[in-house]
Amino acid sequence: MAHHKTRLAVFCSGNGSNFRSIYQAIAEKPLNAEIVLCLSNRSACGAMEFAQENGIATLHITEKQFASFDEFAAAMIHALREHRIENILLAGYMRKVPEAVVRAFPDKILNIHPALLPKFGGEGMYGIHVHAAVLQAGEKESGATVHFVNEEYDKGRILLQHRVPVLPDDTSESLAERVLECEHRLYAEALEKLLQEEQQ
Ligand code: GAR
Repeated sequence: MAHHKTRLAVFCSGNGSNFRSIYQAIAEKPLNAEIVLCLSNRSACGAMEFAQENGIATLHITEKQFASFDEFAAAMIHALREHRIENILLAGYMRKVPEAVVRAFPDKILNIHPALLPKFGGEGMYGIHVHAAVLQAGEKESGATVHFVNEEYDKGRILLQHRVPVLPDDTSESLAERVLECEHRLYAEALEKLLQEEQQ
């Protein structure tokens, strides 16, 4: 019997290029999944705009909207349950996912990180800071990692990694661009792998 389409939430904070590439991969491959919710800590960003243009429900939610962090986490879980979310994809979400949410969705949350974990991960390692650290360390290659999210920042099981060279005249920006291109292919492949693991 055919498996129903896996219901996905994508968490974003910015431009949303990974979100768009995941959305395209689902349509083109095609994959047995659908993005039903875009959650963001920002009310207006590229990702939220893309969701609105494509009829995907959006949720702007931040800690500041609530009296306590626990209430914030509870509201997030409530919304995810309401949308019957099965898997969560972090795609440029620049906040730590509350532990209560991680516990409510064990082994169901993926993150993409713009480096070859376990190197260049952890607190403060996000966006352009990651690429600056890779150049500073004199690395000959970098890449991107899709991993499961657990309570330890950037430490969950690695699902898939792709590599790119670091070139002698790279700046943080040129390296970021090369890695981002590889992220788009990587996230689509990683999602395919996740669905195969979950739907067998
Ligand atoms: C991506 O490079 C992603 O790997 C990174 O932010 C960028 C978001 O771009 N995420 C992190 O650094 C998380 N620690 P996008 O909004 O265009 O997908």
